[in-house]
Amino acid sequence: MYAPGPVVLERGHGSRVWDIDDNEYIDFMMSFGALIQGHAHPKIVEVVAQTMAKGSHFAAATPAEAEAAERFQKMVQSAKAVRFTNSGSEATMLALRLARAHTGRTKFLKFEGHYHGWYDPYCLNGHSHPANELGPKENPTRFPDSEGIPATTFDDVVLAPWNDLEALETILRRDGRELAAIITEPIMANMGCILPRDGYLQKVCDLAHQYGALFILDEVVTGFRYAPGGCQQFYDLKPDLSTFGKALGAGFPVGAVAGPRMILDRMRWGSGMVLHYGTFNGHRLTMQVIATNLDLLAANGGAAYKHIYAVGDGAIAGLRDIFRRRKMQAIVQGFGPMFQIYFTDRAAIHDYRNYCQNVDTVKYSRFVHGLLDRGIYMTPSNGLHWIISTAHTMNDVETLLRAVDEVCGELA
Ligand SMILES: Cc1ncc(COP(=O)(O)O)c(C=O)c1O
Repeated sequence: MYAPGPVVLERGHGSRVWDIDDNEYIDFMMSFGALIQGHAHPKIVEVVAQTMAKGSHFAAATPAEAEAAERFQKMVQSAKAVRFTNSGSEATMLALRLARAHTGRTKFLKFEGHYHGWYDPYCLNGHSHPANELGPKENPTRFPDSEGIPATTFDDVVLAPWNDLEALETILRRDGRELAAIITEPIMANMGCILPRDGYLQKVCDLAHQYGALFILDEVVTGFRYAPGGCQQFYDLKPDLSTFGKALGAGFPVGAVAGPRMILDRMRWGSGMVLHYGTFNGHRLTMQVIATNLDLLAANGGAAYKHIYAVGDGAIAGLRDIFRRRKMQAIVQGFGPMFQIYFTDRAAIHDYRNYCQNVDTVKYSRFVHGLLDRGIYMTPSNGLHWIISTAHTMNDVETLLRAVDEVCGELA
């Protein structure tokens, strides 16, 4: 991704990171979105030190686990129960197992371009491919993302284009009765930042239920970011299961599956249980960090979210203004906590196919390399997104916009 080589970061504080040559950058990656409180937040540093002094992890239930779960349940409406894993990938893996056990069905539907972690069956059409190779919408060409996965794994995966109800309905008429679940990101974050069309997510949920499948909302990127209750709160959705990670752990490795007791209780020990093991599940140190992180996010009537939205929307407005003024064919998609820039002649990127066909990812990489030289840390991959944390300020935005203006002058 990076030329001539990767940036090697050594330390971070607030919105800033420093590389091994002591160059300072404003960080807009924020550890792939995990660092919602920025780097080394004093409260998180304090709780880590205090917790570690009494032991990091036990083979037992802990008060820390309950404290994390209680706060989680207060913020996420659908979380009648919550189960902690060690990563987002483990959470989506567990959600699928629960859905299969609950419905007694094996197949599931995923959307083109969506990423749900690196578990075998999810690794289909997660990368971009030439637009002329994508096949018909009702029967997309299937591209495994990785070697080493038995081809038969994908026999259980039904693939559909996202943000397109007509194509989904056609595919469901063919395969819907066999599905355990439809899994979707609420905002597509694996090809930058692609918003759902109005009413689309609710319709996907309704269609899943019409065919007897569960609606799994993968909020690993969006959870605790767009609202205290994630995108399910923002878009007023009631998923059967939802998955979390990233911002939940404020930089610590964690994932979670939330849902009704009826489904999550299937993990209770006994015959016919859904197995979920893991040495580090419910890790005491991580649980204590989560409790502190969620307290910070919920404090002062959600002031953290107001701050993130103000800074993010300020950055987006400033970027749009520069592109307009410089007459560049570039758009900014997203709002508040997360956005992406696309060099394109389209007014909007709605899905994987638009992304594969209409986005100049090479130009984006040149653009980001220009920013790296000016103290802005971002990945040159167009498939990721710019992240705003509680540590970012309007001063950071001004520095970003000055750098962007200069780089646009060079690119034009
Ligand atoms: C939507 C989504 N789901 C799941 C995952 C997997 O999470 P993790 O990297 O913590 O395994 C990711 C990671 O980027 C993601 O973006």
